Amino acid sequence: MMNAQTHPWWSEAIVYQVYPRSFADGNGDGIGDLRGLIEKLPYLEDLGVDAVWLTPFYPSPLADGGYDVADYCDVDPRIGTLQEFDQLLQITKNHNIRVIIDLVPNHCSASHPLFQAALAAKPGSAERGLFIFRDGRGPGGDQPPNNWPSNFGGPAWTRVGDGQWYLHLFDSGQPDWDWRNPEVRQMFEKIIRFWLDRGVAGLRVDVAHGMFKEPGLPDLAVPERSNRPNAYTHRPEIHELYRTWRAILDSYDPDAFPGARTAVGEVWADSPPTLQPYLAPGGLPQVFNFELITSDWKAASIKAAVDATLALAGGSRAPWVLGNHDVLRPVTRLGGPARARAAALLLLALPGSAYVYQGEELGLPEVLDLPDAARQDPRFFRTKGKARGRDGCRIPLPWSPAGPSYGFSRTDNGASPAPPWLPQPEGWGAYSAEAERPDPDSFYNLYRAALRLRRSHPALGLGRPRGTGTVRWLDAPPDALVFGRDPGFVFAANLGDDPLPLPPHEEVLLASSPLVSSDGAPDGALPPDGAAWLAAAPAPVPPTVCQMRTRAG
Ligand code: GLC
Repeated sequence: MMNAQTHPWWSEAIVYQVYPRSFADGNGDGIGDLRGLIEKLPYLEDLGVDAVWLTPFYPSPLADGGYDVADYCDVDPRIGTLQEFDQLLQITKNHNIRVIIDLVPNHCSASHPLFQAALAAKPGSAERGLFIFRDGRGPGGDQPPNNWPSNFGGPAWTRVGDGQWYLHLFDSGQPDWDWRNPEVRQMFEKIIRFWLDRGVAGLRVDVAHGMFKEPGLPDLAVPERSNRPNAYTHRPEIHELYRTWRAILDSYDPDAFPGARTAVGEVWADSPPTLQPYLAPGGLPQVFNFELITSDWKAASIKAAVDATLALAGGSRAPWVLGNHDVLRPVTRLGGPARARAAALLLLALPGSAYVYQGEELGLPEVLDLPDAARQDPRFFRTKGKARGRDGCRIPLPWSPAGPSYGFSRTDNGASPAPPWLPQPEGWGAYSAEAERPDPDSFYNLYRAALRLRRSHPALGLGRPRGTGTVRWLDAPPDALVFGRDPGFVFAANLGDDPLPLPPHEEVLLASSPLVSSDGAPDGALPPDGAAWLAAAPAPVPPTVCQMRTRAG
């Protein structure tokens, strides 16, 4: 299966990100769970995704939405059981959908038994050596050991009863592991194998630019959060670790389902060149590129973002993303549904792989007016409310136009479900799949049609010849994005204020907004914030069922 090795399934996969607590609740307790997810698999299959990435579902006190892991090898009882997880793997396999899980190696939960043991042990003990405990500075050691800030606000250190401090780059409930300790490495190798042995197709590596800290833990010149390399991000030591993880991934048979195993690093970088070392041969198979999240809605910025990424890697190794559970939803961030629809067509037309965060396909906006009393994000608390935090993109999904929690929670015997763990705004049901399905112009139908076309059109995904992963920018006004992919595909988006005549084409395959008439554009024009997929001369031979690419494994 040479082809599967050269172009493994993940190189052009559409991965759907599931935030389990907000996806679907199968037992009526107001918290999404594996049972709810299993029940909705036909929805995901019909939408046309290749894989799902589950954000943490492990036992957790939820100091940071589950990114504070108390047990890396189990399922939180509120979300399900290990048996249900195995059932999920079995059923997804039957639907030819792969499962990627979230690995959280930078830190665990303060209630992890090893951290509890470290707290109970003495300074200098082996137990404390798994974490980063230090004495403080100043008289009585009552100042933190250095000036590092927590990513959620406030200092990155918390003092314990005997006067020592421990490092947590995030919440105080998330102590950092000491990755220079070989025991930490061995423990994570076991964790990785535990899940790969069960049949997961890959890992999303949380804070993949973190983990190693500069020896001596020096002060930062400017003690601010940043995506630039510094004393605790993008340390060069990380790449040797990733080579060992890659060897583990590659030790699994690529010819048996789920195919070659992948790992995709969450690497927030100040610029694409900072990503480069992560893409060296033998490292992680993939790292996210967040360029479409950080770019503004300007043709020049997006073009530069796409070019910079493609110059480094292409979307197979650096998948495209418009949103996730950490950032404002695209409808709100980009400035309205028309732009988010155009951005979706851009995302799915770019070469390689892309991730879609649950609810993006429904056009969910960010919920901005969540009452403070309902908020859960530690960023809100640690900044004393200055940062609203990320709860607004994590509101439980609506599945029905009306009814309790808009169909998010299902109960047996018609009992009333508990309220959803984050309140849904009034009218949320208008975004439900059930409400959107009959409307041909809905977000849902745009995504569904785009995903179907993407799978059948030879220019999309990897494109032809397989794996070239290129886009050809075509002549266009400065506020337009127009590129070709081979064979016979043109993408056009209008980011300007006036209608954009469609570039030469044979057929409009899909448009994010209705075309408008415009002087000198007999075939119609794209309105501002509209995008279209076009078949260009020579028209591609429409694929027959037999020619359609299958989800090879
Ligand atoms: C990643 C996660 C985010 C979490 C943080 C700490 O950035 O995506 O949700 O808060 O890591 O684990």
